[in-house]
Amino acid sequence: MGRTAGKILSLFRYQQGFLSGETISKELNVSRTAVWKQINVLRKEGYVIEALPSQGYRLLSYPDILQPEEISNGMAAGIGSKIVCLQETPSTNTEAFKLAVEGSPHGTVVLAEMQHNGKGRMGRHWESPAGVNLYCSVILRPDIMPYEAPQLTFLSSVAVARAIHITTKLDPQIKWPNDLLLRNKKVAGLLNEMSAETDKVNFVILGIGVNLNMTEAQFPADLRHPATSLLIENGSPLNRSAFAAVMLKELDRLYGDFLSNGFGPVRKEWQQFCNANGREVTVSDAGEEIVTGRFAGIDGDGALLVRRTDNEVVRILCGDVRVV
Ligand code: BTN
Repeated sequence: MGRTAGKILSLFRYQQGFLSGETISKELNVSRTAVWKQINVLRKEGYVIEALPSQGYRLLSYPDILQPEEISNGMAAGIGSKIVCLQETPSTNTEAFKLAVEGSPHGTVVLAEMQHNGKGRMGRHWESPAGVNLYCSVILRPDIMPYEAPQLTFLSSVAVARAIHITTKLDPQIKWPNDLLLRNKKVAGLLNEMSAETDKVNFVILGIGVNLNMTEAQFPADLRHPATSLLIENGSPLNRSAFAAVMLKELDRLYGDFLSNGFGPVRKEWQQFCNANGREVTVSDAGEEIVTGRFAGIDGDGALLVRRTDNEVVRILCGDVRVV
C-alpha cells in the first residue's frame, strides 16, 4: 500500500463518521482526485468505504490482513515505530534476530501471516497456520545486564493479558512464568531470545504467539496441554491488526515504566493476572515433583516463591506449576 492510502487509513482511525474529501485532501496535501484514486486502491484491498457526495467517505469495514499502518498507532518512536509484515517466514523470531544483527532499531516489530517453523519453548514447535493468529517478534535494545533480561518476558505476558481483556472483556490468567490461559487452556505463548556479552545486552527478541481466530479443527490432535483461541472463547473473530495495535501500545507503556521504575510495577501488574494467587501449588521439573506449598509471589528476578508448610520459602527458577 502506498503512503497516501496508508495516511487515509490513519485518518479514518480517529474518525467514526464521514470524512469529507476536502478534509482528507487538505490533511494530506493532495488533490481530491488523488484522494478518490487512493480510496479505490483501498477498496481493491478489501476495505469497504462508503462515499456520499454531500458528506464524503466513511470506512465501514476493513479486511483482516496485517497492515503496518493499522498496527503502528502512529507511533513515531518506541515499540512499533518500525513494523515489518511478512506473508510467510520460518519464524518471526529468526527474522527479527537477523534484522537486529543487521542493525534494525529498538522497537522494530516483525509480524507474519504464517510461520513454517514457529518456535516454542524448550525446542517445541509452535502451530502457526496462515491468516488466523498473531505471530509477532519485537526487537528491544535495553541498557540492562544480561541477568535482568528474563524480566522482559513478564512485560510481554502482561501486555498480552491486558490486550485480551481490552479487546474481548475476557479475564485471562498467567501461569508462571509466562503462559497465558483462558479457562485453564493455553491461548498464548512467549519465547525470548537474546544476543549478549558478559556484561552487556546487545538486543532481546520478544516472541509473542497469540491464538486469535484459530478454530478447534486447526489445533493438532496431539497437543501436550489443552489449548484454545480467543475465537473459541469469545465466539466472534478479532481483527488481528487491531489486536496487535492494542498489545504493542500496552507493551510500550510497560517498557517505559520498566525503564523508569524498574521491575516492581510490572511485577505488581503480573501478579494481578497470576492464576496461583492465594492457592496451593505443586511444582515439578522433568516430571519430578520439587515442592508443594502456597504460592508466595515472584521475586525481583521473576523467580517463583512457594511457602512450604514448615514456613520456609523456596525459590524456583524453572519448572511446571500446577495449581492444586
Ligand atoms: C511457547 O512455547 O509457549 C512459546 C511460543 C512462542 C511462539 C511465538 S510465535 C511468534 C514468535 N516466533 C516464533 O517462532 N515463536 C514465537
